[in-house]
Amino acid sequence: MKVTIVGAGNVGASCADVISYRGIASEVVLLDIKEGFAEGKAMDLMQCATNTGFNTVITGVTNDYSKTANSNVVVITSGIPRKPGMTREELIGINAGIVKTVADNVLTHSPNAIIVVVSNPMDTMTYLTLKATGLPKNRVIGMGGALDSSRFRYYLSRALDKPSNDVSAMVIGGHGDTTMIPLTRLASYNGIPVSEFLSEEELAKVAAATMVGGATLTGLLGTSAWYAPGASVAYLVDSILNDQKKMIACSVMLDGEYGQSDICIGVPCIIGKNGIEEILDITLNDAEKEKFAKSAEAVINMNEDLKS
Ligand code: NAI
Repeated sequence: MKVTIVGAGNVGASCADVISYRGIASEVVLLDIKEGFAEGKAMDLMQCATNTGFNTVITGVTNDYSKTANSNVVVITSGIPRKPGMTREELIGINAGIVKTVADNVLTHSPNAIIVVVSNPMDTMTYLTLKATGLPKNRVIGMGGALDSSRFRYYLSRALDKPSNDVSAMVIGGHGDTTMIPLTRLASYNGIPVSEFLSEEELAKVAAATMVGGATLTGLLGTSAWYAPGASVAYLVDSILNDQKKMIACSVMLDGEYGQSDICIGVPCIIGKNGIEEILDITLNDAEKEKFAKSAEAVINMNEDLKS
């Protein structure tokens, strides 16, 4: 199985690292616009093979899309990341141009690929990719919910003082500091609602920390994070390539689900060999419905910026 990752920067290279280390794909192509950069990242990663024991072949190329031919999955991480104080939304103008060109190029050589969009503002970039390529909606998936959910589980595990892997929780809605919706009502510790252990105030603090989780890291690192984003993309790619049918919150085109249409936004999905196998239209309570409607409104407003 072959995966192309466009953008060999922090997130792209970290994703290639996890994909190869975990043997998720036999071949990874890293492509970047910066001369020699993807080649260097690929060489560095390949020099891990003997010590970590993987067999994936990683190749780096500078803008040569012919080398990406017949990829099963293409991940788009090309674009600029946030700097401290910036919102994901402020990246829209520059990243829209990049994502559109990249999507056209990859499809010329991999017409059947499933595309995973990572570049921010991710919900809008996913929407743009779908509109620009005319692909069926199961083949364009925005990655954001997998990351936000793992951050939510991290903050819950800290509040509970229990391992993250024993905590189950999901974030839906837009992939933005003010638009994401950590579903605290449905979060559990080994099947027991977390509200058994944490007060409403504590849960509100966890939700708030989750929502600014990316910004917190941007403040500490001086640029946006990469290990958890890279691992989250790899988790999604694994479910596609190996037809695992995992339930993952992804940004997908809605057609009436959650009362929304013509918008890509995070909702729980079953992810398998066809990309989006199913959208789960779960029942939200009134407060969650209201948050979802507000989140959708913000994403739709941002999509409007694509026209200007
Ligand atoms: P980075 O700056 O480390 O890497 C981006 C790479 O894209 C650079 O190497 C750059 O040369 C390359 N690039 C730019 N234009 C290109 C083009 N036209 N063709 C090929 N390559 C091109 O940035 P980083 O940290 O890897 O972030 C990448 C994107 O992912 C950003 O937009 C960031 O906001 C987003 N992001 C999204 C997350 C999510 O959960 N959806 C999480 C983290 C980052």
